[in-house]
Amino acid sequence: MVVTIDGPAGAGKSSAARELARRLGFRFLDTGSMYRAVTLAAVERGIDLADSDALVEVAEQVEISLDEDRVLLDGRDVTRAIRTLEITSATKFAADCPRVRARLVDQQRRVAEGMDVVTEGRDQATVVFPDAECKIFLTASEEVRAERRYLDLVGRGEHVTREEVLDKQRVRDNGDCTRAVGKLYKADDAIEFTTDGLTREEVVDHLMKIVEKRR
Ligand code: C5P
Repeated sequence: MVVTIDGPAGAGKSSAARELARRLGFRFLDTGSMYRAVTLAAVERGIDLADSDALVEVAEQVEISLDEDRVLLDGRDVTRAIRTLEITSATKFAADCPRVRARLVDQQRRVAEGMDVVTEGRDQATVVFPDAECKIFLTASEEVRAERRYLDLVGRGEHVTREEVLDKQRVRDNGDCTRAVGKLYKADDAIEFTTDGLTREEVVDHLMKIVEKRR
C-alpha cells in the first residue's frame, strides 16, 4: 500500500508522516530530504546552482540513502546539515530542475517497490505515485506554518526572526506552486486536511482513520 502526503512547507507533514508510518509499520520516505541532499552536495562542491547541467551531474554522482531517522549522502550522515536556512533556500534550484526531479522520482519509485510506504513531499500523489491507494493533502494556515518553522529553526540554534521565516516561506510557497514540473497541487482524488490548532497526535489519529478506511 502507498500512502502519499503532500502539502506546503510547515504543514506538519514530516513529523506526522513519520509517526503515521511508525504506527502502520510502513516504510517512511521523506522526499524533500533528497532534494536537500543533492543541494548540499552541490554547495559543498562549489558548483553554480543555476547551472542545471552541473546540478544534474551531482544528482547522478551522489548516493542518497534514507534510513529510519537519518539521511546519508555517500555514506555520510547529513541529517542536520540539510536543514539549515541556507540549504533550505538553495534547494529551489534542484527542485526546479526537471532532470534532477526525474532522477529523484525514479529513486523514490524504486524505494517503494514491493513495500508498504508512507511517502511525503509535494508531487507524490500527482507525479510519483498517481495510483496510490491513499492520498492526503495536508495544509495549515500561513501563520501557523511559519510559527512551526520558526520554533523548529530556533530549536536548532538558528538566529532568525518570525518575519524572516514568513518571508522565506512565501518565496518557497510561490516556487513550489509555480514550478514547471512537479508543482504542488492537490490531486483530484486526495483528501485535504488542515492541521491548524491540532497537536501532532491529533493529526496522526485522524490520518490513521483515513488510511484504515482504504486498507
Ligand atoms: O519538504 P521539505 O521542506 O524538506 O522540502 C525541501 C524542498 O524540496 C521544498 O521546498 C520543495 O521545493 C522541494 N520538494 C519538491 N518535491 C518534493 C519534496 C520537496 O520539490 N517531492
